[in-house]
Amino acid sequence: MKLNAEQLARFDELGYVFLPDCFSEAEITALRNASAAVLEMQRPDIWREKDGTPRTAFACQQYNEACKLLASDERLVAPVAQLFNEEVYIHQFKINAKAAFTGEVWQWHQDFPTWHKDDGMPEPRAMNIAVFLDEVMPINGPLMVVPRSHKAGALESSHDTETTSYPLWTLDKKTVTEMVDRNGIVTPTGKAGGVLMFHANMVHGSAGNITPYPRRIVYLTLSAVSNAITKPTRPDFIAHQDFTPLRATSANILKEYAERAAAAPAKSALAA
Ligand code: SIN
Ligand code: MN
Repeated sequence: MKLNAEQLARFDELGYVFLPDCFSEAEITALRNASAAVLEMQRPDIWREKDGTPRTAFACQQYNEACKLLASDERLVAPVAQLFNEEVYIHQFKINAKAAFTGEVWQWHQDFPTWHKDDGMPEPRAMNIAVFLDEVMPINGPLMVVPRSHKAGALESSHDTETTSYPLWTLDKKTVTEMVDRNGIVTPTGKAGGVLMFHANMVHGSAGNITPYPRRIVYLTLSAVSNAITKPTRPDFIAHQDFTPLRATSANILKEYAERAAAAPAKSALAA
C-alpha cells in the first residue's frame, strides 16, 4: 500500500495522515485477542501504571505471532519506506493499553527528542504508526496532535521521570501553548482498524482514560536503515538494535492468520 499524492501532501503540510478501515474486523479481533494474551503476562518488558495495570507491552512482536505479522505488514511498512525513500527497520514495537478507568496520561512530547537523546538516533527519519485496536473516541484518552508542529523541528524538552512509569523528554506548558495557539489541537478518532501515521517531530500527548472503554493502540516505530541508533542507553526491548531492513509481508498473511484464528480460537490462543 502506498500513499497517494493527496495523502503525501497532507502529511507534508499537517505532519500526520489518518487512514480509516485499514484492518478488517477479523484482523482486529485476532489482534485484540493477541493483545489480551500479551497484557495478561508478567514480563519485565510489560510496564505498568502506578496501580499495576499494564501500560505498555514492549517488543511483543518478538514472541506473539499476530504482533509479528502486524509488524511487517505491507500496509504499515510500505508507506513509511515510501516517505523515507529507503528501506526501514523496527526501532520499537509496543501495545499501549490505556486501560478502562485507569489508563494514565502521556505527557506532551515529540518522539524524536527521546529517540535522539536516549538512543542516539541521528535524524527524524523514523516515525510512529498507530493501529487502533479499540474505537478511539473523544472520551477515552485519544491521541491529541498539534497539526503543523513538525515544522518547528525538535523543540527544547526536559526529562520527566516522575509523572508516569515511562521516562519521556517532555515539552513545557509555554512551548505547548505557543504551538497550540498557532495550530490548534486535533484528535484523530475512529473505529478499530484505523491507522495514524505521524512525523517524529509532531507535538502530541493524551489524557488519562476514566471511561469504561479501553483504548488499546499498537505503535510500530520504523526508522530508515541509514538512521540506525548509535548510542542506545535503553534496553533492547525499548530501542531495538537489529537494523536489518524489514521485508514487508503481504496483507494476506495477517488476513489468513485471522481466518485461522477465528476458526480455531482456543488453539490460536495457545499458540499466542
Ligand atoms: C506515545 O506517544 O508514544 C503514546 C501516546 C498514547 O498512546 O496516547
Ligand atoms: Mn510519542
